[in-house]
Amino acid sequence: MSDPGAFVIFGATGDLARRMLFPSLYFLDADGLLPSGLRIVGAARSNHTDAEFRKNVEGWVRERAGAFFSQEAWDSFAGRLVYAPGDATDPKSYATLKQRLEGTQGGALFYLSTSPALYIPIVKGLAAENLTNDPNRVIVEKPIGKSWATCEQINSAIAEHFSENRTFRIDHYLGKETVQNLIALRFGNALFEPLWNRHTIDHVQITVAETLGVEGRFGYYDEYGATRDMVQNHILQLLCLIAMEPPSNLRPESVRGEKVKVLRSLRPIRDSELREKTVRGQYARGVTDGKSVPGYVEEDGGKPSDTETFVALCAHVDNWRWAGVPFYLRTGKRLPTRTSQIVIQFRDVPHSIFNGSPLMANRLTITLQPEESIALTIMNKTPSLTQGGYELQPLTLNLSLLDAFKGEKRRRIAYERLLLEAISDNSTLFVRRDEAEAAWVWIDRIIEGWARTGMKPMPYQSGSWGPAGAFALTERNGHSWYE
Ligand code: BG6
Repeated sequence: MSDPGAFVIFGATGDLARRMLFPSLYFLDADGLLPSGLRIVGAARSNHTDAEFRKNVEGWVRERAGAFFSQEAWDSFAGRLVYAPGDATDPKSYATLKQRLEGTQGGALFYLSTSPALYIPIVKGLAAENLTNDPNRVIVEKPIGKSWATCEQINSAIAEHFSENRTFRIDHYLGKETVQNLIALRFGNALFEPLWNRHTIDHVQITVAETLGVEGRFGYYDEYGATRDMVQNHILQLLCLIAMEPPSNLRPESVRGEKVKVLRSLRPIRDSELREKTVRGQYARGVTDGKSVPGYVEEDGGKPSDTETFVALCAHVDNWRWAGVPFYLRTGKRLPTRTSQIVIQFRDVPHSIFNGSPLMANRLTITLQPEESIALTIMNKTPSLTQGGYELQPLTLNLSLLDAFKGEKRRRIAYERLLLEAISDNSTLFVRRDEAEAAWVWIDRIIEGWARTGMKPMPYQSGSWGPAGAFALTERNGHSWYE
């Protein structure tokens, strides 16, 4: 397929475009990775000339790039930028956009970085101007819908005009270097795969903890909450990469086919199990990053809210590989540290020959952020003569990816990889329609169950690891969270 001629960003003045999309495109261009004729079109409601728009984008790129800003790279990037003003709900805007695309060689990619409520009007507006024909493609941001039904509705409306192979659903976690490294770790090493099952693995923990609160996104967040904002997409994607069967190659259909099988194997959580297997929390005042911070509801004038800012779940993947292995998932805002971590806890040895020296089961800890590392905890003999010569202690084999790849000049933004893949028409790192919908089916059951049973979020102090119930969730099975 020939290179696309235009990359159009709807919501071009929004937060995501400022912080991620324009800086990512700038860096790709600076590294010589964008097709030479690619025009970048910003589309948003406010009125700007091209020159004003370029000035704004320059400010956002400078801020994000810091010391990596290059005037020469910017001057060349700025030449690609044009602006198309217009209200996404006004059909006339699409005629303006079409004019701005005149003269481009090759197809167009449309990135919908707007409120999900605008996805359908935008796709319809594009279709009315014949802008949805092959090879044009569409990229949509999460959240796609608020439930299976709304996700299905959006997907169907998009599918009327863009075939599935021309629809790219973004989950930015799939663009993170360390998340891709999960595939390398599992399938690039012969060591782990024979152990990667219920016979050797006791349980798995996936934690995505943030210290930030809702940061000016109260309106959006209050409608979604942590379960829809983080678990339905990022955390379930991590779970898929850990739990999936080896794909036969890295082609989109192979990898995504394996992931969707995992999502469909997730055991539904029944209403009667909600209190045992799920925990909802909402942050109250407290201290994070050394600062006093307000509670969640105080961020928006104190009106009571039933939205969870913390969730912990005990999930099970019902198949031969994982039968009986709990997958503990948790995420929250205003927690003590920012960390994303996957812990694979192996089983105890079946019988200890080291009388008196306690043994700790092996553990593989994969830290995705802020630092990237893979650590394997193993038992080791301490040099001593006590205990008949065998005194053991756990030691960690630590592979710090930061140290291993010191030569890399800067950490890439996850979006750089994803935008490049979309431009190159490779959808392996994007979420297929059936994946997004299968994830909602499992999530809906939990969220609807909370509504049916009246299970409200419990308050937790900002700067703590969530409500006490989160600890009981693992302790009930004799496990505990690793922090
Ligand atoms: C986004 C969520 O998808 O991911 C945010 O909407 C969250 O609420 C963010 O803060 C976390 O991403 P990262 O890359 O900082 O872990």
